[in-house]
Amino acid sequence: MGFAYRASQTFRVLLAKPGSEDLVLAKQHLPPPLEQLFLQMSAADQVHGVSVLRSLLARGEGDPDLLAAALLHDVGKSQARLQLWERILIVLASWLFPSRVRRWGENEHTGWQRPFVIAVRHPFWGAEMIRQAGGSQELIALVLRHQENLPADSAREIDRLLIRLQEADGLN
Ligand SMILES: [Fe+2]
Ligand SMILES: [Fe+2]
Repeated sequence: MGFAYRASQTFRVLLAKPGSEDLVLAKQHLPPPLEQLFLQMSAADQVHGVSVLRSLLARGEGDPDLLAAALLHDVGKSQARLQLWERILIVLASWLFPSRVRRWGENEHTGWQRPFVIAVRHPFWGAEMIRQAGGSQELIALVLRHQENLPADSAREIDRLLIRLQEADGLN
């Protein structure tokens, strides 16, 4: 995939806003306190969550925690509002230098590395937000671990759900 294509794709995704049918679909898969968390997310993250949900539904997935995790896996990003340029930087740098991005995200940076801290830590922040809103243990685990490297052959059901979530996240 070329750089220009990737960059224009990034802009298109980051400027998207959810439609009313997206919000209706999200509501069907979230109890009210969790729907409130969803609505706190940026418009671009809401669109992304609904796209991940649609990918899972299209593949016949029906686990309620998995479908809620599709919508909420990136909710931790709402703890630190990112500027559009910071979001673009994350997407492009994660694509170009993934291991450096992981290293930048591991410390408490406040300068230009702040977006990478969010990229690495948002699963932990999101899991805590969902715990406080009364989400299930399975939903908390799915959000907490959504960026974890998983053994492809794990027999655990939670790992199977995580692999489904990561595949759909990667497509959207
Ligand atoms: Fe994420
Ligand atoms: Fe995501």
